[in-house]
Amino acid sequence: MKNHIYLDNAATTRPAPNVIETVVQCLENIYGNPSSVHRLGVEAEKVVARAREAVARILKADPKEIIFTSGGSESNNLAIKGSAYSLANRGKHIITTSIEHASVYSVCQDLEEDGFTVTYLPVNEQGIVKVEELEKALREDTILVTIMHVNNETGAVQPLEEIAKIIKKARGDKKLPVWHVDAVQTLGKLPLNPKKLGINFVSLSAHKAHGPKGTGALYIADGTTVRPQISGGGQERGIRSGTENVPAIAGFGAAVSNIKDIKQDSRHMAALRELLVEGILENIPGTRLNGPPPGSQHAAPHIANISFAGVRGEVLLHYLEGEGIYVSTGSACSSRKESEHRVLRSMGLKEEEMEGAIRFSFSTQNTEEEVKTVIKKLKESVKELRSFG
Ligand SMILES: Cc1ncc(COP(=O)(O)O)c(C=O)c1O
Repeated sequence: MKNHIYLDNAATTRPAPNVIETVVQCLENIYGNPSSVHRLGVEAEKVVARAREAVARILKADPKEIIFTSGGSESNNLAIKGSAYSLANRGKHIITTSIEHASVYSVCQDLEEDGFTVTYLPVNEQGIVKVEELEKALREDTILVTIMHVNNETGAVQPLEEIAKIIKKARGDKKLPVWHVDAVQTLGKLPLNPKKLGINFVSLSAHKAHGPKGTGALYIADGTTVRPQISGGGQERGIRSGTENVPAIAGFGAAVSNIKDIKQDSRHMAALRELLVEGILENIPGTRLNGPPPGSQHAAPHIANISFAGVRGEVLLHYLEGEGIYVSTGSACSSRKESEHRVLRSMGLKEEEMEGAIRFSFSTQNTEEEVKTVIKKLKESVKELRSFG
């Protein structure tokens, strides 16, 4: 493949070599159904069990608290619909934020159509949820709070510890509301210990951390109930029916096992983010960072969203593509819809700033050299595009 610079890791990551090897190995050799009681089935079941242990380890959870799904979107749907419908007799109020991924946001909208009431918490200009608004929004009938960890468009890290304290206080002895965290952009970038924070559900996706696409997991804290959204053969402890995607799950396990030192990986990516952000803001006039600045405790190490005044993000994206540099204008899942700018709009950006926004996202595989090249190419291309306008 032609040499290129891939800075769209929040959309998806390149599978690690041992992930590819594991998936292929599994397709070739471990083809039994994990539910079959003969030797081939038991072998497949063991592969799934090992992956479950690896995923549990990263969350400091028990393997029985991990349910494999088809990815982050399914995990979000299962956690939100599954808890809303199982708790509907105790209340119908849900709290979320204005910056959630579409697979949370649109589920909440669907639930509104089905008789639930949803409060969408606002965020500040850096895209961080206003926690004092959470305190005000909580009600006697609040059954569910769903607030993400790392925002996929801006890299804003939400204050989970503060949120945990507020939810704990609101719960008292009644164990409600339950709390779901979309941690799809967290895996391999920041540590997360749901038990410590009193989180009931955590969504993960393999392909954001060098694993295969179409597989993910939902952490369900011991003792938390959820109504299954896919019924059938009763796999995954009856919570998610369907024959397990054994090769992908094995690849997910391998990807998670590759995460050895989150702090070090995070430092590497944060240094690249800082280099890029400062390089752009200092060298290209008319630019602004949409999200927490480098060094902030609210800045995820791997995502930087920057607006280029007088330039259309989509045009700049394709211009960079011509130079072998891959970036995005926003969330991959909504790139072509009007809803594209929901997150940036809720941070108070002007129309032109939203139009000129580009998301750069890193993985551990990126280098300083690449970032320097990107800054240089950006300088040239922005200048040229502005000269046309
Ligand atoms: C924050 C967040 N949640 C959920 C998802 C959906 O994950 P998946 O692609 O595995 O369905 C994504 C993917 O872009 C994401 O960034």
